[in-house]
Amino acid sequence: MRITLGVTGGVAAYKAAELVRRLQQDNFTVQVVMTRAAREFITPLTFAALSGQKVITDLFAGDSQDANLESAIEHIAVAQRTDLLLVAPATADILAKFARGIADDFLTTLYLASTAPVVVAPAMNVNMWNHAATQENLKLLRDRGVAIVAPDEGYLACGMTGPGRLAGQEEILAAVRQVLRTKRDLEAETILITAGPTREDLDPVRYLTNRSSGKMGYAVAEAAARRGAKVILVSGPTALETPEGVTRFDVRSAEEMYAAVLAHFPKCSSAVFAAAVADYRPAISALQKIKRGKGSITLELQPTVDILSMVAREKKAFRLIVGFAAETENVAQNARKKLESKNADLIVANDVTAQGAGFDVDTNIITMFFADGRDVTLPKLPKAELAQRILDELLRMRAAQEKNGLELAAGFHATRKEFSH
Ligand SMILES: Cc1cc2nc3c(=O)[nH]c(=O)nc-3n(C[C@H](O)[C@H](O)[C@H](O)COP(=O)(O)O)c2cc1C
Repeated sequence: MRITLGVTGGVAAYKAAELVRRLQQDNFTVQVVMTRAAREFITPLTFAALSGQKVITDLFAGDSQDANLESAIEHIAVAQRTDLLLVAPATADILAKFARGIADDFLTTLYLASTAPVVVAPAMNVNMWNHAATQENLKLLRDRGVAIVAPDEGYLACGMTGPGRLAGQEEILAAVRQVLRTKRDLEAETILITAGPTREDLDPVRYLTNRSSGKMGYAVAEAAARRGAKVILVSGPTALETPEGVTRFDVRSAEEMYAAVLAHFPKCSSAVFAAAVADYRPAISALQKIKRGKGSITLELQPTVDILSMVAREKKAFRLIVGFAAETENVAQNARKKLESKNADLIVANDVTAQGAGFDVDTNIITMFFADGRDVTLPKLPKAELAQRILDELLRMRAAQEKNGLELAAGFHATRKEFSH
């Protein structure tokens, strides 16, 4: 994959050098294009050395490093072969030019001439960022399909505090991956996904539940369907819409979720258990509404069925099982214990007390614990991106299985044919 990295004239231009390395680590070929202002902050030589490619600077002879018509045409050809245009850092100026179609240098001309998807990572003074002109330009670009990696908040080079710092490398990379991820690499999989909370009835009007929104499981379902998997989503009560291409079965209690999982698991090649299933339910669910009384009442709770370990026991060699662990303490220890005791292939653990992680937010901070002893911690990322990473790991585990001579069972393929959306 080829990425054209546009570097524009901001203080954060130096950070683009490290970004080149990071993109290369992900096997992208990087072609750097610099604006004239960017060259005031960092030299083309740095990028040429890092990328191993000539850096494209200007459109016209006289401005360029090695300016002549031939090289300009060659540069345009090279740039047009790009799979994605990434601009990081993106100045307020370049956003304005992109938004309005001004093409007065190489980068802006390339933006108009290229049909590749575009990702911009703005960085600027907080007032420039908040200015109505910049916000309008961003809206125009967003509406046009440009992916915008929002700047981080913090202390800025200008001495002010607020949004304006170039987003972290991992966030920029996540956006790049997200935009490029059009491959349908999960077509061989039928994935069962559970999501959301369960409700355990106390009486006809009251229940015990938890703060799960279902966002993580739905993100996995959406990503898996986009990547070609057949997806069966067993969902507790949530306010979320069914992602396109996903077959959804609604359940309420842990018991109903277990029954639905049992019914659908046999036709699935893998399962992702992202639901926050109640561990306990009232021993008795009253038939009539419990009346207010003077004294206190005691609720007796009994354990619900442990869906993950029941299913994992029946998983057969080819099925891959991913579980989630929402913890408030000893995350690693509890996750490893869960991995072993439940016969899962991967446990995705998160500390739900961390800011920007856990229930009802759009981001999460996770560590993935694998059965082979590895663990991978990811920074705070949107749940949509984490869903992709989890699915990447599922594919990796599938590939490892196949390398070890274990194909998806022939019998499974037969059952899979019977299932359609
Ligand atoms: C020291 C200095 C720092 C600057 N930092 C930024 C910045 O972080 N973000 C930004 O949008 N503009 C910044 N500017 C203004 C841009 O360099 C200016 O708008 C320039 O015309 C941008 O050109 P370009 O978009 O073609 O790279 C800075 C200017 C100076 C002199």
